[in-house]
This record gives sequence, C-alpha cells and structure tokens, in this order.
Amino acid sequence: MCGIAGYVGKKNAVEVVFDQLKRLEYRGYDSAGIAFPQNGGIGVLKRAGKLVNLESVLGQAPSDARYAIAHSRWATHGAPTDENAHPHFDEHEDVAVIHNGIIENYLELKEDLEKRGHVFRSQTDTEVAAHVIGHEYADGGPLEEAVRRAVKQFRGAYALVVISRREPGKIVAVRNASPLVIGLGKGENMLASDIPALLPYTREVLVMEENSIATLTDDTVAVTDGDGRELPFHPQHIDWDLASAERGGYEHFLLKEIHEQPHVIRQCQAGRFNEDGSVHLEGVFSEHVWMEIDRVNIIACGTAFHAGLMGKTLFEQMLRLPTDVYYSSEFRYGDPVLSPKSLAIFISQSGETADTLAALRLCKSKRIRTLGIVNVLGSSIARECDRTLYTQAGPEISVASTKAYTAQVIVLTLLAMYIAQIQEMPGVRLQDWAKALSNLSGLADEALKTECEVLEIAEKVQDMKLAFFLGRGADANLALEGALKLKEIAYVPTQESPAGEMKHGPLALVEPGVVAFFGATDPSVSDKIVSNIREVQARGGTVVAFTTEDETIVPRASDYVLRVPTSGEEFLSSLLTIIPMQLMAYHVARLRGCEIDQPRNLAKSVTVE
Ligand code: F6R
Repeated sequence: MCGIAGYVGKKNAVEVVFDQLKRLEYRGYDSAGIAFPQNGGIGVLKRAGKLVNLESVLGQAPSDARYAIAHSRWATHGAPTDENAHPHFDEHEDVAVIHNGIIENYLELKEDLEKRGHVFRSQTDTEVAAHVIGHEYADGGPLEEAVRRAVKQFRGAYALVVISRREPGKIVAVRNASPLVIGLGKGENMLASDIPALLPYTREVLVMEENSIATLTDDTVAVTDGDGRELPFHPQHIDWDLASAERGGYEHFLLKEIHEQPHVIRQCQAGRFNEDGSVHLEGVFSEHVWMEIDRVNIIACGTAFHAGLMGKTLFEQMLRLPTDVYYSSEFRYGDPVLSPKSLAIFISQSGETADTLAALRLCKSKRIRTLGIVNVLGSSIARECDRTLYTQAGPEISVASTKAYTAQVIVLTLLAMYIAQIQEMPGVRLQDWAKALSNLSGLADEALKTECEVLEIAEKVQDMKLAFFLGRGADANLALEGALKLKEIAYVPTQESPAGEMKHGPLALVEPGVVAFFGATDPSVSDKIVSNIREVQARGGTVVAFTTEDETIVPRASDYVLRVPTSGEEFLSSLLTIIPMQLMAYHVARLRGCEIDQPRNLAKSVTVE
C-alpha cells in the first residue's frame, strides 16, 4: 500500500524518484506527488489519479534538485483528491512528509494541534503527522531528533519519509510495520518501499529494521533506534536480474508473470534436492521437531490463503497431519486453540501483509513454532518467523498474484515431502513425487500453449454476468483462486464453491448468461462433475471445463474444454489448471478493457488492516 521513493546524490533527483515511483505504482495509484528543494523552500507537485497526471506537470520541477521524495497513494484517510495526495507540509512548510500506513490516533493529535491554531488542508492522517513533526522541529533540530520525538506520539503502522528546508540534502526515514528499503550507492543514497524500485541504481540494499530511523545524505547513511542509539547494519547484495522487474516485451506484468511460471517452478526447486533425490530444505527445524509436530495451522490472506488450502489437502492426504487454514484477519482476533506442539505456517508473497504479520506475532507470543513461506527477501514476515523458506519466484509486480501462488504451492509440496521423508511415512512414493516435480516445469510450458484456445473462449464468454467456479478436492481449491483472479482483474462477479455444494443454494443463480468454470482433473470424481455440469446446462448456463489431456467424459459433457497435461501426481495436474484459469482472467479482463496490472481499489501489499 502506497509507494515511497527518495533520492539524494548528484543526479536529477526529480527524474530519479519519478522513475522509482513508476516501478512502485503497483503499490497504489489513487494519486501521486513529489517534493524537492526550490528557492530556499520546498516545492511540491501532486495530482489525483495515476502517475501520468503527475508526469504532465513534472516539467515545473527544477532539473537541478539533488534530493527529492515521492509517493504514490492507496487512499485510506480521505478521498483520492489533489489535496489529499502526498507529500504534506507542516504548519510553516518547514518539512514535507510522505507516508505509508495509518496513524491510528491522528484525530486526537489533530484536535490537539487545532487547539494550538494549526490549520489543515487535507483529511489525511499524514498531514497530521507532518504537523506533529513540524511542531517538534520548531523546538529544535536536527530533523532526525524531531522525527524521533514525533513518532513517540504516533500509534499505528507507518513508514514516514521527511525532508526539511532547513537541512538541505538530508532525508530522514522512519519505519514502523510498513516496509522501507535503503539503497546504498557511491556519492548517492536512496530509499523505496520495495527493492525493484532501487535495482536500476544499486544492488546494495539495507532493509530497515522495525522502529528504526535512518538519515541519508549523498555520502552517509546512519541508522538509529527509537532512543537514538546507532544500529549496526548489514547490507545485502541483490542479484535479481533487472529484466525480471520489467515488462520485457509483454503488454502487462500479469501476462509476463503468468508466462514466467515454468521458470519459477524450476527456480523454487533449485538447490532443494540432494543428489540421491531426497528433499533438502536449508535452515528449517531439526528432525526431532518435525517428529513432534501434531498439527499445522496455515495462516495467510487472499491468494496466499488459497495456496494454504492446497497445503492442507497435501498435508492431510500425504502425511495424515491435521491441518487448518485460517484467514490472517480472522486468526488474529479469533482466539484460536493452539497446541504447543503445533506448527504455524505463514504464507505471504510480500512478507509485509499487516494481518499476517500480526497473526505471526500472536503465535510468537504464545511460543508456537513459526515457519514463513515468503517471496520478498528480508521482509518482516521472513525475518520474524523462526524459520523461513523463500519461494524464489523473483519480483511479482502485477497487483494480482499469479506466479507467487504456484511457487507457494510448490514449496508446500517440497515441505510435505520433506516431512514424509523424516517421518518415514509408509506408502508415500517420494521418488514418484520428485520425478513429477522435476517434470512439472515442462508441463507448465505445455499448459501455457492453451492460450490461443483460452482467447477464443474468452471472446465467447466475455460478457458473462456471473461466473461460477467449481471443483472437487484439490480442484475446489483451484476454483477459489481462479474465481479471485477473474473477479479482481476483470470485475466479473463470481460464485465459487466445491461442486457438490452448488445444489445447496448457489444453483439458484444459474440462468442464461451465467458461465460455470469447472476444475475437473480427478478421474475418480469425473462422473460427479458431469452430473454437476448437466445441472448447470439444464438451467441455461454455459460450461467451461479445465481438465487433463487424459480425461474422457468431462470434455464430452462441456461446452468448452481446456486441457492441461497429466502429471504423474494428480495434485500437480490440478495445480497446472491454474495456468489456463489465470490466462482466462487475463484475456477476459483485456477484452473488457480493464486496467490489468492495477485493478481498481486494490494494491499489491496490504500493510494496513
Ligand atoms: C490476489 C492477491 C492478494 C494477495 C493477498 C496476500 O491476487 O494478490 O489476495 O494474495 O493480499 O498478500 P501477500 O501474499 O503479500 O501476503
């Protein structure tokens, strides 16, 4: 939520931060703004709407500014207007502030300041933060000390970045539960909410710790804790290829990320098999811990929650290990019953999702073992879990998650195999699983070849008024994810459930103009699926089946069929259907003229409740 960028160095700072902002636009696109030094004060340009609106006035900014900060907003407090766009000034325009997160006690602070005569120009909590910082600054600098005093008064989650007209060439940043990464350069330093924004400028990054304050000039970076004590820092070298954070010839990041999945499937297995074919997971718990675990709770949001459901299917079928999957927001307030021998697994692409992070902290306070399955290196969830397995999927830029989902399910599969190996589970054919996983990338390539057929079907069904997503077993999990993709990027209302549940209510919605997408990769329930298909068709609905190349009866019953290759493991055949489902969502969205990489009202990383 919200993109933050800052630069101090020798380059045209306005150009640099605007470029960084473009690389962060997936974090918020309700408005954008930029602050820079101008005529002894601070100049600000900001516009409601997408970055192009800001770009159209960027010519008014000086080309010789050597430091600047910039922001793209996902609105929380106050509508997406020019006035509410960041940066915000304090009372005397001494400081300009950009912010990601929520200052929960902003109303109390605002009332207090209003009593002292402060006048506010926006409805945002950020402007209140700026006024508090400005008020502290009036009592004396340096800027980082004023910020330190101010944040002691804030409750909530925030990353704040501040510049001052009295201390040119300095950027102060504070992190509390919203991500901030510093990029270290030669004669220049910078910061951003996410690593991809920094990659064209530097590969040396420093992920800011919780409750730390950083002061950047062109040749120094100092990081201190809330009491001003200097913190040691350990930069990481990022070796992601820059191209993986760019569109690389595709019309949208989403399409590129769907097409990256064969590579991602290989990547997340890389280094995770021993020569004898056994699974090797670096840095997870020792063997006796795995022998002791009596229950697994998987906690996540959205697409990551759907990956968790696949984990449940696998852990229960392969390991007979009781597994529950919780929405993070429900788990954290739900007073869950937790066995001391249980394992809590937190799945998150960004590693920063506020509810998942809070659920993790709750488990830690109850001394439950925690394991993260995370994509973004050094993110909060990755750092705070007892152990973390990275999905190694590379940067995911499009707001709707695709390749991260596939990678999360693969890592859960590797984990299930690893536990089966340690527990010497009878009847688990680990070598067959290993073979099926090693073939999966090639099968994913084949599954991508359905794209032409997907497009043809999308053209026929694009005007659907409602989409059902149905399946049984693992296919029912996939149905939830397929529905989420279509809903979030093509704005098609969806109704998703296990196929057997349809007749217990949702069937009432079926009529001409309704399309039912069936996942049907499990031959043991094909005849049940065919009955469900007939029930839809009898009421005027159209049926699209996602099935395997070996299936015989489902295709005959369906109006349209998309076939994926059959994997040696049924679970993985089911997983492959996510590829044509994602492509279907993409092509329907494109035909309906939707903003694919930046769906309305959504943002990539949900760092507020
Ligand atoms: C949907 C989507 C979201 C995220 C959810 C969790 O396409 O992207 O539902 O999956 O917000 O985000 P992470 O995985 O970053 O915790």
